[in-house]
Amino acid sequence: MAKLLDGVAVREQIKAELRSRIDRLRALRRAPGLAVVLAGEDPASAIYVRNKVKTCEELGIYSEKITPPETITTGALLEIVEGLNRREEIDGILVQMPLPRHVDSKRVLDAILPAKDVDGFHPVNVGNLSIGNPGPRACTPAGVIELLKRYEVPMAGQEAVVVGRSDIVGKPMAMMLLHQNATVTICHSKTRDLPGVCRRADILVAAIGRAAMIDESYIKPGAAVIDVGMNRVTDAGEVTRIWRGEARKLAQLEEKGSVLVGDVNPIAMAELASAYTPVPGGVGPLTIAMLMVNTVTLAEQHLGITASA
Ligand code: GUN
Repeated sequence: MAKLLDGVAVREQIKAELRSRIDRLRALRRAPGLAVVLAGEDPASAIYVRNKVKTCEELGIYSEKITPPETITTGALLEIVEGLNRREEIDGILVQMPLPRHVDSKRVLDAILPAKDVDGFHPVNVGNLSIGNPGPRACTPAGVIELLKRYEVPMAGQEAVVVGRSDIVGKPMAMMLLHQNATVTICHSKTRDLPGVCRRADILVAAIGRAAMIDESYIKPGAAVIDVGMNRVTDAGEVTRIWRGEARKLAQLEEKGSVLVGDVNPIAMAELASAYTPVPGGVGPLTIAMLMVNTVTLAEQHLGITASA
């Protein structure tokens, strides 16, 4: 039987561990502070940001949501970021991606002080990750490592294959697996014989954004499979093909108008993997948990208070 890597359970563990650190900060100085900038009306981004703010409230982290309109200029966003950089009570700044098309995202992200870069996207922190210096780490791949560690999935000496080379997930994921002494391959759209390369993986991480693309031909029996994808399928034929005609999923499509699926075929994954992350309930919950960890860690650093044992 494949082992389910339960992201909700691990998120709750992480939140429980954070409470004492947050209480200590509040007792000694002040609550950790996170500012989230959400520009425009992207509905998926609005849901992500709402969940981030809600989790802060649950934990006693001060949070502030700044919601400039879709039409905001790069210059005006830079001013917002620079204002937040100067505020003592703000420990972490998160600018939700994607920004409106006309905005120079790179300039905006690079304007965040590295010491407040709660996403770990700033070039200084990307460099810190690369050479193994401390610093905030990108939340989604950091969550994957946390999940693998807590379920005691061995990484050292294992063949890890990461499909996808984004700056947010694929590249930092590969670097973090390397730091765990895995032998790492990064694949992308130009990779030759992608299924063959993926079948070498003891740990397969899919972060491509293509619904159920990774099927049985990509998975070595007994591999640990991590599915970072979140895709909505709206076509009945597609739902039938992915879930092999499972009536429950067709009913879900009928009721909700879409069904959520990762980048990995869920049936193939459950049949072949020794351990895997479900969608939803696998990697997703950990991204926010790691954002909270990063916020608290930055606050401890800003206030000169070390985490209590
Ligand atoms: N958009 C999708 N994922 C993320 C993330 O982890 N951080 C930010 N800032 N934007 C995102």
